[in-house]
Amino acid sequence: MNQMLRCPHDQRFSDLIRSRTGIQLPVHRRQMIESRLRPRISAVGASGFDNYLSRLFDDGLLEEELPLVIDLLTTNKTDFYRESVHFDVLVREIVPEAIRRTAPHAPRLKIWSAASSEGAEAYTTAIVLAEAQRAGQRFSYAILGTDISRRMLERAQRAIYSTEQLAPVPSELRARYTMKARAPTHAGTARIVPELRDRVQFMHLNLMDQTYSVDRDVDVIFLRNVLIYFGAEDQAAVVSRMVSHLRPGGYLMVGHSESMVVSHPHLTQHSPSIFRKT
Ligand SMILES: C[S@@+](CC[C@H](N)C(=O)[O-])C[C@H]1O[C@@H](n2cnc3c(N)ncnc32)[C@H](O)[C@@H]1O
Repeated sequence: MNQMLRCPHDQRFSDLIRSRTGIQLPVHRRQMIESRLRPRISAVGASGFDNYLSRLFDDGLLEEELPLVIDLLTTNKTDFYRESVHFDVLVREIVPEAIRRTAPHAPRLKIWSAASSEGAEAYTTAIVLAEAQRAGQRFSYAILGTDISRRMLERAQRAIYSTEQLAPVPSELRARYTMKARAPTHAGTARIVPELRDRVQFMHLNLMDQTYSVDRDVDVIFLRNVLIYFGAEDQAAVVSRMVSHLRPGGYLMVGHSESMVVSHPHLTQHSPSIFRKT
């Protein structure tokens, strides 16, 4: 039987998630949606997915549940040094160029990880920039990480990662920029050192919002592996808002599978998945 007929709320739920988060979850992916939401279905004591949806829409549970629903429906996969060419370009081109541009003064780079998940992208940036400073480059930097998932933001702020998560970080840098936990309860984990944590701030931000409370002279925006979840209209709107937060000459980095969706009159392509504001 047609699943939409079985539950009148399926389409409404799918539309709601799209309008609130940009994430496209067509009703034919009901099984996946249902399995991700199982913890909430149990938590509110609903008899099943249909009953959970009617609790949201008919019993006024929606606004209370929504943040938790979003936490469960977002795909948060991330890695340290993911798509590492972006970090190479940052250190080999963007930093030296900024130093030349502001000479004799040292520049202060503003970096935004705009779908930061649990922070690996922001802390990888901090590690490579700290290394550039150690190598004698004169600059300072501030990193902002934002995400729609409050659960991921809490993890990012904690900055505690498992040995497996930290495996892509070269061992010498792991020794320099992470500290092993002493408590037995945290065995097998390490925390990013305070000197790097101090450079990174995390904040809740929904890319679907019409305006973002972020500076408009950002040097580099990482907007990686998030546009793929949005429809074409939302992708274009988000890219356009990102452009308005870059300083002229600033860079937008997207995931390698997302290059094709980036098109804006003020962006020129620097290389696959890297764009520059004119
Ligand atoms: C697959 S992760 C990508 C993480 C990181 N950028 C990377 O490439 O490794 C996608 C992230 O986008 C976030 N996200 C999805 N929709 C969002 C929205 N509307 N606003 C802000 N973040 C969103 C998710 O919560 C998730 O943490």
